[in-house]
Amino acid sequence: MKKTKTLGMVLMLGAALLLGACGSGSGSSSSGGADKTVANKDKPVVWYNRQPSNSTDGKLDMAALTFNKDTYYVGFDANQGAKVQGEMIKSYIEKNIATVDRNGDGTIGYVLAIGDVGHNDSIARTRGVRAALGTAVKKGGNVDSTPTGMNSDGKSKVVKDGSLSVGGKTYKIRELASQEMKNNSGATWDAATAGNTIGTWSSSLGKQIDIVASNNDGMGMAMFNAWSKENKVPTFGYDANSDAVAAIAEGYGGTISQHADVQAYLTLRVLRNALDGVKKGTGIDTKDSAGNVLAKDTYVYNEKQRSYYAMNVAVTADNYKDFTDSTKIYADASHQLDKSKSPEKKVWLDIYNSSDNFLGSTYQPLLKKYAKLMNLNVEFIGGDGQTESNITNRLGNPSEYDAFAINMVKTDNGSSYTSILKQ
Ligand code: BGC
Repeated sequence: MKKTKTLGMVLMLGAALLLGACGSGSGSSSSGGADKTVANKDKPVVWYNRQPSNSTDGKLDMAALTFNKDTYYVGFDANQGAKVQGEMIKSYIEKNIATVDRNGDGTIGYVLAIGDVGHNDSIARTRGVRAALGTAVKKGGNVDSTPTGMNSDGKSKVVKDGSLSVGGKTYKIRELASQEMKNNSGATWDAATAGNTIGTWSSSLGKQIDIVASNNDGMGMAMFNAWSKENKVPTFGYDANSDAVAAIAEGYGGTISQHADVQAYLTLRVLRNALDGVKKGTGIDTKDSAGNVLAKDTYVYNEKQRSYYAMNVAVTADNYKDFTDSTKIYADASHQLDKSKSPEKKVWLDIYNSSDNFLGSTYQPLLKKYAKLMNLNVEFIGGDGQTESNITNRLGNPSEYDAFAINMVKTDNGSSYTSILKQ
C-alpha cells in the first residue's frame, strides 16, 4: 500500500515536472520566446507599487519614469487613499463615541504603525491619519510624517493633540505612540515587528489606547491578532487583504481597497499594449476587441508623470461583504485576449519582498490570473525586502524577456535596473 502510494507520487511529480518544462519550454523557444530583434533598452518597462522617487523628499525620478517611450508606473492615488483612511477612522470615532473612549478620560488615544519612513505611500498614510484626526503638525509646507516614538505625555514636536466635538462634548485626540515597523535585518512594513510592538505599547499605555491605526493590513492584522481583537480595540489598516476584510466581522475597524484588481490589470496591460503596438489606452479607457475596459472612476492617468493611479475605497462594516475575495479580477477586464493578435510574450517581474502580505496574498494571485488572460508568460522573482542586488542579479540576462515589471526595494534605485537594460 505504502509502496503504491510512493510510486504514484513519483509519477505525479514526474508529470508535473514535465508539464512545467513544457510550459516554460514553449515560452522561451517558439512564439513565447523573447524577440531578439528588439534591444533591451527599447523593451516595455512598468514600475509598479513603488514609484521611482527620492526616498527623502518624495520627488519623482523622471529619468526612470521616462526610461523609454513604453515606460509607465502603476500604483494608486496615495493622497486620495490616505484621506479616505483618515476620514474612515474619524467617522468611526464619531459614530461609536459611546464605546471608543475606553477609560472615559475624555482623550481618544491612538497608536500608529508606520510601514517605511522613506516610502511615499507610507508617508501619505501617516499624514492622512494625522490630518483627519487633527494631530498634524506642518513642516516645510507638508504634514510632518516623522514617527513620534512614545508620546503618552503629548510633548512630541512632530504631532500635536487634536480635538473632536461629538454630541456636544469635546474630546482630545492624542497620538500616543508611532514607530516604523522595521525588523533587525532591515525589512520594512514588518508585520511581526508590529505584533511585538503592540505588546510593548499596550503594557505601558493600557486603556489609554482607544484606536489602533496602521499603514497597512499586514501590520494591522498582526496587532489585531496579538492584542486588539481580545481587548476589543478597533484597528484600521490599508489594502483590503482577504484576511483583514474577514476580520471586520470580528471587530477589525476597517481597511482601504487600493483597487489591486485594477492595478494588477494595468501592470500587465501597459506591457501588453506596448508589445502589441496598439494605442496605449486599449482595454483601459477604450474597449479592446475582447471587450475589456476599465470604468473611468477606478483610476486616473497622469501623462506628465507617465503614471496610472488606481482609486481607493473605504471598506468598513457597512460594505465589507462586497470585498471578501481580494484576488477576484475586475469583471469588465476578465476577457481572454486572442493569441493571434496578442501572441505569448515573456515578462520578467519581481516582487521586492516575497513575504509582503499585500503583494503576496493579493497582488500576485491577481497578476497570475491576468497573465493567463493576456497570454503573458510571467517569471516571478521574489526578493528579501532588503537587498536590491538580490533582485537585480536575477536580471542577468534581459535578452531572455520581452518586457519588465519592476517593484524596487528602495524607490531611489530605478537606475540599478535601467542601467542593466541599457548595457
Ligand atoms: C501596501 C503595503 C505593502 C507595500 C509594498 C503598499 O501599497 O499597502 O501593504 O507592504 O505596498 O510596497
